[in-house]
Amino acid sequence: MNTDAKNIWQWGYLLNNSSEIFQLSGDVSNKIAAGEVVERPVNVVKELVENAVDASAEKITVEIAEGGLNLIKVMDDGKGIFPEDIEKTIDRFATSKIRDINDVYELSSFGFRGEALAAISSVCDFSLVSKRKGYDCLELKSSFGGQPVVKPAAGIEGTIVTVKNLFGNLPARRKFLKSSSAEQREIVKFIRHFMLTNYHLSLRLIVDEKEFFLFPKNESMLDRARKIFKEKKIVHLTNKYENLKIEAVISTPEVQKFRRDSIVLSVNGRVIKDNMLTQAVIQAYKRLIPEGKFPLAAIRLDISPSYMDVNVHPAKLFVKFLNSGEIFSFVYDSILEKLESLTPHSYD
Ligand SMILES: Nc1ncnc2c1ncn2[C@@H]1O[C@H](COP(=O)(O)OP(=O)(O)O)[C@@H](O)[C@H]1O
Ligand SMILES: [Mg+2]
Repeated sequence: MNTDAKNIWQWGYLLNNSSEIFQLSGDVSNKIAAGEVVERPVNVVKELVENAVDASAEKITVEIAEGGLNLIKVMDDGKGIFPEDIEKTIDRFATSKIRDINDVYELSSFGFRGEALAAISSVCDFSLVSKRKGYDCLELKSSFGGQPVVKPAAGIEGTIVTVKNLFGNLPARRKFLKSSSAEQREIVKFIRHFMLTNYHLSLRLIVDEKEFFLFPKNESMLDRARKIFKEKKIVHLTNKYENLKIEAVISTPEVQKFRRDSIVLSVNGRVIKDNMLTQAVIQAYKRLIPEGKFPLAAIRLDISPSYMDVNVHPAKLFVKFLNSGEIFSFVYDSILEKLESLTPHSYD
């Protein structure tokens, strides 16, 4: 039991020892919930980058130090936040993205649960500077879920979120983290995967004060994938079937990897993990790549939000499809067709 919970329990017990169930304070419940949303620095980066994109940002800068444990800073040129809303950003279940549960099934944004900033700000030294066009620029500061302070600040249109001393108040959580270089690798991997599918966006990553990479705006998916996969033997494909659309970059059969982690999946721009889709890709190469070897693939699926449920995991890493059999066949067939056009005789 942490100190807050212990205090509540002790006080309750002293005042009335015939009752032992107490409502947790907002601060304690935020910290518990934070565990589901932010387990590691990469989860913070993901939430902040997705917020920037939801705010229609086109240029994003991510800065990290010591694998994100010391510093994570995400700057965007998005629409910014109204001064009146700035404090609400760190309230739990406060969001500008949905109003009603049915909106979840018509979602065009990454966020909707309204809990990321509440969770993040409860486990770090947190600052959010934001300016909406025509309104004052403000900074909100909060330390480990303590009382937030809002002050006027200087800044241009957009938002800057700075996270310092992540999990500084939760030594138990910090103990579970890997080395800062391992945490950095996870962040770099997430950004690469995210930028493969969101190839219209520009993103600059600064690691320990040095530029790590810079992706320009409006690249083609193929150009973006060439840079990210560092591989020339890749081809581009698109296909459409009813309300399903796929755009993908896949490797030619000569490319054979030992691991399947270069199969990157996304649905409506959201990078996800999904065994069924990974299998659809692997199966399409079955007669071309020996078992135990894997292709490179970046798959971007576009599906009407009403055909899936993204609200199955707090970190939104998994989605549920209404008709997974149809989606499997669509991905499998689209890749197979492209591979057949490259190597017609392999399929005779
Ligand atoms: N970079 C940003 N630019 C503009 N608004 C933002 C940004 N980040 C957060 N917000 C605002 O703060 C709200 C809360 O953010 P968050 O806790 O991530 O929840 P969610 O994204 O699920 O709505 C958002 O709904 C949005 O209105
Ligand atoms: Mg969000």
